Amino acid sequence: MSEQSPLLSQRSRVQPFRVMQMLDLVHRRRREGKSTIMFCAGQPVTGAPEAVLEEAEIALRSGPLGYTEVVGDREFRERIADWHSATYGVQTSADNVIVTTGSSGGFLAAFLATLDPGDYVAMPAPGYPAYRNILEALGARILDLRTGADSRFQPTEKMLRELEHTPKAVIITSPGNPTGTIIDPDELARIARWCEANDCVLISDEDYHGMSFGRPLASARQFSDKAIVVGTLSKYFSMTGWRVGWIIVDDGMVTAIENLQASLALCAPAIGQAAGRAAFTLEAAAELDGHVENYREAREVFVEQLPAIGLGTFADPDGGLYIWVDVSAHTDDSERWAHELLDAKGVAVAPGVDFDPEQGHRWIRLSLCASAQETREGVRLIGEFIDERLNVTRN
Ligand SMILES: Cc1ncc(COP(=O)(O)O)c(C=O)c1O
Repeated sequence: MSEQSPLLSQRSRVQPFRVMQMLDLVHRRRREGKSTIMFCAGQPVTGAPEAVLEEAEIALRSGPLGYTEVVGDREFRERIADWHSATYGVQTSADNVIVTTGSSGGFLAAFLATLDPGDYVAMPAPGYPAYRNILEALGARILDLRTGADSRFQPTEKMLRELEHTPKAVIITSPGNPTGTIIDPDELARIARWCEANDCVLISDEDYHGMSFGRPLASARQFSDKAIVVGTLSKYFSMTGWRVGWIIVDDGMVTAIENLQASLALCAPAIGQAAGRAAFTLEAAAELDGHVENYREAREVFVEQLPAIGLGTFADPDGGLYIWVDVSAHTDDSERWAHELLDAKGVAVAPGVDFDPEQGHRWIRLSLCASAQETREGVRLIGEFIDERLNVTRN
């Protein structure tokens, strides 16, 4: 690795995103012709819905793709607003929707618009690492909402009440990453009320909405129109590389975020917005709901087969794309374990430290994106890896 430039700022010293490093290794192995089962990344292996591809072809040929409005193409924002209103029974206006470069651009804009250096932000632990990395770069102070099996790996309002400092913002992710669990709608309502009462911004990352295996999914805006909702085409809509997401915000925040977005990105990718209108059609939904069935099958394989290979403790996913698995019986360094597993068996898993700097060295995250057959084979190979290491220790 090359030496760090002395010109780098303090704020640039964020943790590496190890999942992305693992993904690079997967790409390299595949280039070298080595077979690899990928359980590390949270990206659908399916492409964009057919209806979107048709729209994309038309958009590509129908004129120059210039900048859209800063806050996003009006028609696209209307589709998002209508989808949100119809799904959750709320009145969401396109005026409150701001289209961003993936939801990553959305939560960056939301953080910039609501936080000053030194502000406290409460976020789930384990939780999505990019929040932590960006918040640290922005000089915010993080309050971990430590979750476990007792709260089905989701934060509670009681946890907020017991915090040492009142946060300026609270982040909720449901279905969770890395846990795949869905917050109970009543609990989300209590959290939303607590945030309103404490002048605290609720940022609800709803990126994995559309992907439930049965539990009801509520949007934070059912309970508070002050809440910021984060959404994306990357997950349920199976359009990861198109880099289109959105935030739904309160009237009083639109102009500030528009001004930030104008300087941060000018606008989100035009092609994704033009074609993305078709992602909200019934035709697309039929295709996309079929993918959710595949994730459900992969979940079933994991839940049934992991205990038999010595991995019996995990967060049972209610939806989303992941299962969070305790590997502490086999290692206290899940990053090394993950690299050894990849070298020995060609199975790529995500080491837990990304998601939980404190306890993640005892956990890994597996993705539900592979087919049921590939998932079965991956679990078998992990089992072989565990057995071989046990035999080496015994002999
Ligand atoms: C919880 C969560 N939020 C946000 C993102 C960012 O997604 P994108 O920028 O592709 O919308 C991810 C990606 O994995 C995620 O898991």
